[in-house]
Amino acid sequence: MDHRFVGLLPPGAGGDDVLSLYRDAARPAPPDRPWVLANFVAGLDGSIALDGRVGSLTSAADQVVFTLLRELADVVLVGAGTVRAERYGPVSIDDAAREPRAERGQEPVPPVAVVTRSLQLDLSGQLFRDPDRRPIIITVERTDDAARRRVGEVADVLVAGETVVEPARALAALADRGMRLVTCEGGPSLITMLLGAGMLDELCLTLTPLVGGDPVRLVSDAPRLPLTRFDLASVVSGGRDELFLRYVSPRAEDGGA
Ligand SMILES: NC(=O)c1ccc[n+]([C@@H]2O[C@H](COP(=O)([O-])OP(=O)(O)OC[C@H]3O[C@@H](n4cnc5c(N)ncnc54)[C@H](OP(=O)(O)O)[C@@H]3O)[C@@H](O)[C@H]2O)c1
Repeated sequence: MDHRFVGLLPPGAGGDDVLSLYRDAARPAPPDRPWVLANFVAGLDGSIALDGRVGSLTSAADQVVFTLLRELADVVLVGAGTVRAERYGPVSIDDAAREPRAERGQEPVPPVAVVTRSLQLDLSGQLFRDPDRRPIIITVERTDDAARRRVGEVADVLVAGETVVEPARALAALADRGMRLVTCEGGPSLITMLLGAGMLDELCLTLTPLVGGDPVRLVSDAPRLPLTRFDLASVVSGGRDELFLRYVSPRAEDGGA
């Protein structure tokens, strides 16, 4: 399908294969954790949801980029609020994307890793139904034993903090599993945690020309984040007047993350 992706910045970059700007970007994993890329779609007013879901903020063109960023991932990381709101299932990867994944030494399909303190997840939902695509649940020491046991029957459980999941521990646990590229699909609480820890290397932001969504933005209101600057790596236009922006942390580019 033609979504008329046009590379605007760097000028002419990507040529006919504009999405190679995403596919071929350098993403050097730091020594102690994977590279962390977050993918969001937002309206012009900064809203990231309509009636509690992404809904019509996204579009066919945005879904092309969303799918591509999943195809690049070793793991898709997401907060439990988003899993509940968007009724997450396992990731599907097209046959055409499996060969490049194999060439990069990746598993055929990236697992979904869910960050949760409460463990309040619908264990009968589609995310937990396929024993060959068990999700990873990243949680804390202080959880209800019975709930943890139930989750452990249908998912791999990682403990990464006592009362709150600590980003460094969570990401180190994913690195221990050989994961070098995390695609984080939100939501705001999880991104705030990653930004607060200085562990967001790349933000892929689709700006969609709508206003009037929910008063919820990309980060949560608290805690207030340290002021952090990102470098603009590429701008692509496409779909129906969307802008696809890719920002990279200067610290990550320097390899000092
Ligand atoms: N536009 C977009 O691109 C986009 C992307 C993603 C989400 N969204 C929207 O964002 C909304 C959901 O927002 P949200 O803030 O609830 O989402 P969230 O960040 O996905 O989930 C928050 C939940 O994640 C868990 N969590 C996050 N950080 C944690 C930590 N450090 N330790 C332990 N658990 C942690 C907690 O789960 P428990 O409550 O289970 O303990 C927390 O309640 C939905 O409307 C969704 O549609 C939009």
